[in-house]
Amino acid sequence: MSLAVPELVGSIEERYAQLVRAAEALVAGEHDRATLAASLSSLVYHSLPDLNWVGFYFHEQHTGDLVVGPYQGKPACIRIPSDRGVCGAAARSLTTQRVADVHAVPDHIACDPDSRSELVVPLAIGGQIFGVFDLDSPVPNRFTEADQAGLEAIAEVLLSHVRTP
Ligand code: SME
Repeated sequence: MSLAVPELVGSIEERYAQLVRAAEALVAGEHDRATLAASLSSLVYHSLPDLNWVGFYFHEQHTGDLVVGPYQGKPACIRIPSDRGVCGAAARSLTTQRVADVHAVPDHIACDPDSRSELVVPLAIGGQIFGVFDLDSPVPNRFTEADQAGLEAIAEVLLSHVRTP
């Protein structure tokens, strides 16, 4: 059985509202972080245009590194020190990083040379970094403020379901 990818219609806000509803329906009752991350990566990757990588990095307590979790796209960097890259900046600042042109950011880590713009949403639980939700696009300036708000809402779907040990 294949679950349908939703057909998104209307304004960008309406489309993200539909995507969030689809995400909630997809992961209803589930709490495992890998299951949530895999399902949300696939849903977002196949629902939105102009993306070449969608996935999650999880914070590893004993090293402080971000370690890759479930994703869609080409094989990516496995481990990102938290003082490096756009993902590290999101994790350190607990603030979404929206990068219009990755070539203009010296600290950007190029996992896929096709990537031209990036959005990284931090995932925090009780004020502590838990991971990041990372999206790459081959199109410069792909992510608008409306995309940021919509993708932060998708990240919230994971945070509201995940059960930590
Ligand atoms: N570009 C990211 C690294 C992760 S990949 O994009 C999948 C960064 O600079 O942290």
